[in-house]
Amino acid sequence: MAQQVPLDFLGGLRRTHTCGALRPSDDGARVVVMGWVHRRRDLGGVIFIHLRDREGVSQIVFRADGDPDIHAKAEMLRSEYVVAVEGFVEKRSADTINPSIPTGEVEIVAEKIWLLNTSETPPFPMDEHVDVSEDTRLKYRYVDLRRPHMQRNIILRSRITLAVREELYRQGFLEIETPFMTKSTPEGARDFLVPSRVQNGNFYALPQSPQIFKQLLMISGYDKYFQIARCFRDEDLRADRQYEFTQIDLEMSFPQEEQIFEAIEPLIERVCAVAGHKVTAPFPRMSYAEAMRGYGIDKPDLRLPRFWPVEDLFPAEAGLTAAGLPLVAIHIPNTGQLSRKERDELKDFGRERGLTVYDDPKRLERDYPESFDLVRQRTQAAGDDLLILAGWRGEPKGHRPEETVFQACGQLRLFAGQKYNDRHKLLNPEDFRFLWVLDFPMFEWDPEDQRWMAAHHPFTSPNDQDIDKLESDPARCRARSYDIVLNGVELGSGSIRIHRQDVQSRVFSALGMSLDEARMRFGFLLDALTYGAPPHGGIALGLDRLVMILAGETSIRDVIPFPKTAKGTDLMCEAPSPASDRQLRELGIQLRRQ
Ligand code: AMO
Repeated sequence: MAQQVPLDFLGGLRRTHTCGALRPSDDGARVVVMGWVHRRRDLGGVIFIHLRDREGVSQIVFRADGDPDIHAKAEMLRSEYVVAVEGFVEKRSADTINPSIPTGEVEIVAEKIWLLNTSETPPFPMDEHVDVSEDTRLKYRYVDLRRPHMQRNIILRSRITLAVREELYRQGFLEIETPFMTKSTPEGARDFLVPSRVQNGNFYALPQSPQIFKQLLMISGYDKYFQIARCFRDEDLRADRQYEFTQIDLEMSFPQEEQIFEAIEPLIERVCAVAGHKVTAPFPRMSYAEAMRGYGIDKPDLRLPRFWPVEDLFPAEAGLTAAGLPLVAIHIPNTGQLSRKERDELKDFGRERGLTVYDDPKRLERDYPESFDLVRQRTQAAGDDLLILAGWRGEPKGHRPEETVFQACGQLRLFAGQKYNDRHKLLNPEDFRFLWVLDFPMFEWDPEDQRWMAAHHPFTSPNDQDIDKLESDPARCRARSYDIVLNGVELGSGSIRIHRQDVQSRVFSALGMSLDEARMRFGFLLDALTYGAPPHGGIALGLDRLVMILAGETSIRDVIPFPKTAKGTDLMCEAPSPASDRQLRELGIQLRRQ
């Protein structure tokens, strides 16, 4: 329990400065500051408090020979009490300067104090980093958010959002809102549904993205739309995924892919500058096929070198990989000699994914000296680097079997890179390596449902040359879609869209959607496409992921003020929670007790 102390009213009192504002040039000024008691020290009658607000910390001093009533009040102060102080600014003597805070050359000599509120003892200290479980932090999020570390993240997020708006307005984009209560927008996740009270038995869906509405806006002639859009997806949560998250969403009419990139690149440059990092566009471009052949993943982390297919360098009878499938040389610089145990780990990791890992190249080097020389040339691996080869063991797997091998090698590359990163700082979080990945396949095979799924979303345009493969060879049909990738994280995705109704209908049908189903789900879009739909395209960037990386965090929960736990719970408000019988009755909903 907080102690019982008489509280003061704020009355007409106004603050003159924030706690981070005062400097030696303010010497002698009469000031009023307000904030939270960060620390209190009592040095034999002289009481010092550090008063904190979001702008910083100021030291207040209550001198032993000051007004005894004020002194008595200062003695009552505890951590996180809320106070206002009036006093005058005094320069500190050289030996008492605190260089660790920007206001450290001055202090405020208190003449009046108002105790505005008390506080329970906080569940954890207001320190930069705290050693408590994330659950405790989330339960007391309003306290957690006071910590300087979290305040920096949330303030950075606000400044980044402002920079995004400024840049997109500068480029002539219009900010337009689209509805939250709408119909399903397929982005590959489950929908959150909102039951209708007036139309019992019917449901709105919260948007997984503003995708269809932004396309409709292009049809309506609002070229260059953007929105800082909240999106909702019922999918498994991870460090970089929340149920509700924010996209920087935009769309243009008549664009080429390059024009979308030209809109995004200055935006990224500006946002990085806000976070204190210099990055320079244009960012490299890489096709999906190249990404697969070099990194085994559609979001390559360029801080580690690419791997190389090397089956052409060995005689076929060497049998290092299954016939027709790649043999891959993976190279991680400066790892030094790995121990036997580490090599076994690599092998096991590969084996679990269907690979044979040749972890000790000396044998291969002895048996195939010339081939191995060429491997070294191709990979440019030096003596102290890790160089391993990986081939495929069994039957080819999947609709694009080469890709299956590359993907497994991609995982092995990242495993090895991350595992030995500590030794040589290969994956420096401040080394921002942006990349555009282009020319994705149009479809991915879903082995569970045994059908083709849209690799991006079903409104993505196939490549002009591939339209004829929609039905005959969906595995080789490429899409006009692109991702922007940063250090192995997919930051954003977009595409040139289908603007013709006939093509859209064919894509729905290639996805196994009957005409009736297509009309039921997307009839309004199919109709809209017949009323003069211009060619159009766009992209959406994950704002949470962008801020996460720029803030040097590894979870988007640390850049979202009130996130859900990995289990989807809001521990502070205790959501989700049961609805009352009355609410359910009004909504016409009866729960099935399991
Ligand atoms: P996509 O589904 O790829 O594309 O989403 C775009 C970006 O949004 C971010 N993102 C998420 N961030 C946090 N939590 C999530 N659950 C989550 N899901 C996605 C990612 C991702 O790259 N309508 C299309 C865009 C377009 O085509 O214009 C779309 O939503 O950073």
